[in-house]
Amino acid sequence: MTGYNYNDIIDDFSGNIDNRLRTKEEEYANDYSTPFPSEVADVLKTLIDETMHDFEEHYFMTTDTQRKLLFQLVKVFRCSRILEIGTFTGVATIAMAAAIQPSSSLSSGENDNSNGKLITLEIDSKAMALAQKHAKKLKYLSDRIDFVLGPAMER
Ligand SMILES: C[S@@+](CC[C@H](N)C(=O)[O-])C[C@H]1O[C@@H](n2cnc3c(N)ncnc32)[C@H](O)[C@@H]1O
Repeated sequence: MTGYNYNDIIDDFSGNIDNRLRTKEEEYANDYSTPFPSEVADVLKTLIDETMHDFEEHYFMTTDTQRKLLFQLVKVFRCSRILEIGTFTGVATIAMAAAIQPSSSLSSGENDNSNGKLITLEIDSKAMALAQKHAKKLKYLSDRIDFVLGPAMER
């Protein structure tokens, strides 16, 4: 649990037509799914709190369950190269980067000396700055993430 109420996030989301997003399923799935490693959960919690406080568009953030799914997908498929278009404040960035396996634990025998990398692009400098500030709290995360400020089509 990240300590905020999912319903608060979507209260003023104009896309929340007929409350389709106000689901008990989100809460249930979050409560009963595997938690993030505690150090990642701590970073996410403060990042989410700051995003909620500082950004009118806080509803851009992926939900807890979506982040957990991304985390598990990166782990299960052993993704080592990820491209994310639209960092916003980096909650999904951090969730995915946390799941990248260090090269030493990638399948042995392959001639792969590269560390996993997540490249993430964002046009909003304020949002990206917040993402970077929080990713820096864990060195292994910041080492894995390349933040690129600017429109994705021009990179
Ligand atoms: C829905 S939000 C992304 C949510 C984020 N992945 C998360 O999990 O919190 C979409 C983001 O894409 C950014 N964006 C929109 N067009 C873009 C473009 N052409 N290049 C890079 N970023 C873009 C917006 O500024 C916005 O922050």
